[in-house]
Parts: sequence; C-alpha cells; structure tokens
Amino acid sequence: MANIVLGVCGSIACYRAADLARDLMRAGHVVRVCLTDAAQKFVTPMLFETLTGQPCLIGAFEEPERGRMAHLDWARQADLLLIAPASANTLNKLAAGIADDMLTTMALAYEGPMVVAPAMNPAMYSHDATITAMRTLAERAVLIVEPTEGDVVVGEHGQGKLAANSEIVMAASTVLSARSLYAGKRVLITSGPTQEPIDDVRFLTNRSSGKMGAAIAQAALLMGAQVTVIAGPSATLYPRLARVIHVRTANQMLEEAAEAAGEADMVIGAAAVADYRPVHQAEGKIRRKSVDIHLELTPNPDIIAALAKLGKRTVGFAAEPTMDLSEAKAKIVRKGLYAIAHNDVSNPAIGFESDKNQLTLILANGSQEVSPLASKLQVALWLLEKIAN
Ligand SMILES: Cc1cc2nc3c(=O)[nH]c(=O)nc-3n(C[C@H](O)[C@H](O)[C@H](O)COP(=O)(O)O)c2cc1C
Repeated sequence: MANIVLGVCGSIACYRAADLARDLMRAGHVVRVCLTDAAQKFVTPMLFETLTGQPCLIGAFEEPERGRMAHLDWARQADLLLIAPASANTLNKLAAGIADDMLTTMALAYEGPMVVAPAMNPAMYSHDATITAMRTLAERAVLIVEPTEGDVVVGEHGQGKLAANSEIVMAASTVLSARSLYAGKRVLITSGPTQEPIDDVRFLTNRSSGKMGAAIAQAALLMGAQVTVIAGPSATLYPRLARVIHVRTANQMLEEAAEAAGEADMVIGAAAVADYRPVHQAEGKIRRKSVDIHLELTPNPDIIAALAKLGKRTVGFAAEPTMDLSEAKAKIVRKGLYAIAHNDVSNPAIGFESDKNQLTLILANGSQEVSPLASKLQVALWLLEKIAN
C-alpha cells in the first residue's frame, strides 16, 4: 500500500481521473487528489473527496490543517506523485520549476518518484515547448505515460488522448514496487555509440541513440541506485543525478568503464561499441582522389566481455537485425555474462532512434522472458526488476 497524490489538470480528460482514483484505490493505495484551478472547471473537489474519502487540495494557500503547510505535508507523505491528466501548461511549468499553484508548488517540494500522463490536443503535444518540457522531465527520471493516438475532440484525431487507466495504474505500480530495489547499489551503464576516427573530420560509428542507456540510468535512479554512465557521443541527455563520463572511442570507453566497474555492483552494457576501428588515423583531412583507397580495420576490445571478467553481475545487450535469439545466447557464454537483453532492431517500432523498445531477456541459466512493448523507461524498469535478484 502506498500514499499516492493524484494531480488533476484542466483537460477534457479530467472525467477519467475519477475512475483512475478508484482503480488506484482498488490496487490497494491511499489516494489524495489535488485539482488545479483549471481542473475545477471540469470536475469538483466533492467528486474526488466522496470517491477517495480523503480531502482534496485545490488552492495554493489552502490549509486543511491550521498551522501546517499542506504543500509540504503532502509532498513529504507521498510515495508517488501521479499527474493525470497532465496538461501542456502544467508539464511546461514543472519543467521550468514554476510553482504558482498548489500542484506545482507541491511538485517542487516533492523528492520522490513522479509519473505523468499527458492529455492534450495533438498540436499542443507536438509543440517544441511541450517536447522540450517532457524531455527535461524525463531527464529528471519522471516516468511519462505517453498519450495514445485517437479522437481527441470532435473532428480531431492525433496523439494526445490520455493513456488507458490500466496503463497508468501499471506505470504507477511498477514505479512503486521498484522504488527501493536498488537502494545502496551502484550500477554502471555503458551507453550510446562509439566513434572511431578515420581522419580529423571523419569517423566510423553506428545508429545507436543512447536512449536505452539513458532510460536504464533513469530507471536505476528511480529504484534507488547510484548510477554511473560511460556515454559515447550522442544528443541524448542523461539524468542529472547520474555521474556521466563522456567518451568517444571504444578504447576510451573500456578505460573509463574498467575503472568505474571496480566499485560497481552491477554492469549493464547498453552501448553499441564499434567492432572495428581504422588501424591508422590520418592527420587532417583525407583529400578526394580519383583512385580507390582502402581502409584497414582492426578489432576493438570486447568491452562487455572485459567487464564481465571483473566478476560483477554483468548484463549485455544484443541488438540484432532479427528475432533469432541464437547469437544472443551464444554471446552469454562467449562473454561470460549473467544475462543478455536481445532487441530486434529491424523492427521500426522498437529500432535505434525509437522511443519504444521490447526486449527478450535471456539469463545464463537458460530462462527467458519477453518485456512489454513500451517506452524505453518502462522497459528499463522491467529489465532492472528482472535482473535484480
Ligand atoms: C474545453 C477545454 C478543454 C481543454 N483541454 C485541455 C487538454 O486536454 N489538455 C491541455 O493541456 N489543456 C487543455 N485545455 C487548456 C487548459 O485548461 C489550460 O491551458 C489551463 O491553463 C491549464 O491549467 P492547469 O495546467 O493549471 O490545469 C483545455 C481548455 C478548455 C477550455
């Protein structure tokens, strides 16, 4: 059982929050609701107070108990802050740290896990400001339950419809059940691609975005771990609470990872390390000529195999252009891994730059399990739960 504060914003999807409160209560949680001013144009405090049997907070200066500051009290007592529906306005305020009503003030004073389920018009959802706000929140390990595509208001269709209540409840339950699974544990993650220079302006690399590594870092932080990321070059932003060491080449990644692995309890190799690098790096820029030139390549070190030798629980990734698991299984043995997470990068729904993923986790003991197809953060939470014990 957990104490959940359900923040409800001024969205047409407000009516769904009543059922959501009941679903969370059915899952065994105590639910207290905080309504924004705009939400009260759609629903009333009485609705939620009657459904939950708990007081409902509405105004920034409202004090149900005299002499106490409700926004601090509620923030301290909550095990989870869930905002559903989350409006574009509130998402942008949360990202900017604006605290001008009870919900955003409480959110700023709150230090625990947060789940937000946006609901809005598709144009608002795809606006640069909203996308940037959601990215900022994701960097702070906020779990975003993405809206679905559908009819949002009469005549309009697109992504912006509040996710199914069952999905929101599942996200809340996952975060709650996982919150102390990694308390006191140190997790080392390698992430992103590597770049292997050909000359001073060109390099060999691959399509890894680093998003899965960032999601694992966020998930591990949510679960109470101390996180170090050895990150190859990519535009992905890593959670601020993680220690991030930026590297470029496979050799640099190995050097930094081997050093950090000494104090890690678990190593997760989500980086897509280039298998080969040019034998020679030309100085300056190789100039165009009308004859063939040949690039001589030499194998890079096998980073995950080297890290596994250090005796820590080591989990690798196998990005394969197929659902065939035989190569992933062979890697477990060859590299001495505890487990490997296979993903089929030929599937555009879960491929390299996608925000979603689906993994088949294969343990060294032969057991295997498939994750739900969900956001990379949800899949990362799933993965960390499976490999914790
Ligand atoms: C009928 C109506 C429906 C609205 N639905 C949404 C919505 O689904 N999502 C959203 O972000 N804003 C929606 N808005 C706009 C918000 O209510 C408005 O931006 C408000 O300032 C949000 O305040 P809050 O974030 O404090 O709840 C709607 C406005 C109206 C009039």
